[in-house]
Amino acid sequence: MDVTGDETRAAWAIASRKYEDEYAEHLERARTAELLPAEVDVLSEMVVGADVVHPMSGHGLDDVALARLGARSVHGLDYSDAAVSSAQRRADELGMPCRYTRTVMPASGLDDACADLVYTGKGALIWVADLSAFFAETHRLLRADGRFYVYEAHPLVPLWDWDPDAIRVRPDRGYFASSHVNDSYPGNGAVERQHTLSEIVMACLEAGFEIEHLAEHPDPFWRPGGMTAAAWDGRLPNAFSLLARRA
Ligand SMILES: C[S@@+](CC[C@H](N)C(=O)[O-])C[C@H]1O[C@@H](n2cnc3c(N)ncnc32)[C@H](O)[C@@H]1O
Repeated sequence: MDVTGDETRAAWAIASRKYEDEYAEHLERARTAELLPAEVDVLSEMVVGADVVHPMSGHGLDDVALARLGARSVHGLDYSDAAVSSAQRRADELGMPCRYTRTVMPASGLDDACADLVYTGKGALIWVADLSAFFAETHRLLRADGRFYVYEAHPLVPLWDWDPDAIRVRPDRGYFASSHVNDSYPGNGAVERQHTLSEIVMACLEAGFEIEHLAEHPDPFWRPGGMTAAAWDGRLPNAFSLLARRA
């Protein structure tokens, strides 16, 4: 199953055309894009004047939001041509201090200690096969005392069925599985990597970070096609956020 990651990258190359095809709609969203309230609570002070690096930057709406919160610069990294070029065009059109580089994480190609904050999430860690390599690269990019922040789908999310009426666990998924084939977005055979919460926390600590904040959240950050699911009614974890200091 997609050992090299090439099939997943090809799936993203197709899916990310959406960011170009729906350029105008994304531009309108970018005009007012904000981080989630839980992100703002944690990041609002540290982001002011910060140089931010954003691995897996996708459509770049969070980059515009970070710039609006006061980041000095935001450098988005993504391996999809369409994501990088459309995000750059939008940021330029809005006069935001965001730039984008096409790169395959965890090899960012950026200089050591170039960032005060590495921000990522909302569908990022699920594409990372080697968490240790990802955290080591993040650590390398940060200046002394720099922070890593992620707001991400909770590792239990792959188990939740989207039944509108009843909470159900999908019989074809397991919490301790290492991966599954994505059947929503981007689809096209993309393979999502699964990491348990303890694996994420331990990989972060082992890379040399001190964890300053870890929270679990009931709301999903993405509701496909305006759907409602019983699994999203507040009883289950659907996201987590983590802030760590480069020790
Ligand atoms: C769901 S998006 C998440 C990003 C952003 N939060 C958003 O909502 O657009 C995932 C992005 O990660 C990128 N991606 C996945 N694996 C990658 C890798 N190894 N290196 C760089 N980009 C990657 C994809 O091209 C895609 O644009």
